[in-house]
Amino acid sequence: MSEKIKFTIDGKECEGQTGQLIVDAAADNGVYIPVLCHWRDVVPAGSCRICTVKVNGRFMAACTTPIEDACSVENNTPELQDIRKAIVEMLFVEGNHFCPACEKSGDCDLQALGYRYQMMVPRFPYAFERRELDAESPKIFLEKNRCIFCKRCIRMIKDEQGRSYFGFKGRGKHLEIALDKKLAENMSEELAMEAMKICPVGAILRKEVGFATPIGERKYDNVPIGSDIENLQK
Ligand code: FES
Repeated sequence: MSEKIKFTIDGKECEGQTGQLIVDAAADNGVYIPVLCHWRDVVPAGSCRICTVKVNGRFMAACTTPIEDACSVENNTPELQDIRKAIVEMLFVEGNHFCPACEKSGDCDLQALGYRYQMMVPRFPYAFERRELDAESPKIFLEKNRCIFCKRCIRMIKDEQGRSYFGFKGRGKHLEIALDKKLAENMSEELAMEAMKICPVGAILRKEVGFATPIGERKYDNVPIGSDIENLQK
């Protein structure tokens, strides 16, 4: 049975449950820790590292580390902000992200984090990897150039037998997201929309649903990412 425990984040006294992940405990206490691969109540992947915090002075991923009684978490420090900004920059140069031409612009977590960390010109050289687009499935347009390998779709978009519609293929720099063509033939409307929703970038798009919400009225067009959590307890 989980018990209540106390801890601090940047000196703020917080309460959580034993076994609870730091990122979720922080959110419950009105503290935003950025995430890209994490999704609450889904088995963590720990793949993007944007949630890096310091726990009792050690770097840890907040989405894979359970909170411990009396621990001290550092979250909003210049050092950690710069690490997160560097991760966002790395993700931008590793893929091909052209925000103005992307249907997910304004709803994209990576773009929103670029704004949050005031990314201007990435400090790393662009890789300009060439990845093919996959438009074969009846409902999904897979823009592999934008995939950040978070595995959300692989972990969450499954059929009734628990088979994943998405998977990785290739290795190293040739790794790319792929859609099981046979399964995708019968993908439901709801699941296709869910896949688009949980993708933190614009890699998974529902075909024939373009600009349903106009630019300027999207999730992050008026409120910065994280503000829903940060405004929780004001
Ligand atoms: Fe923690 Fe991606 S959100 S590693």
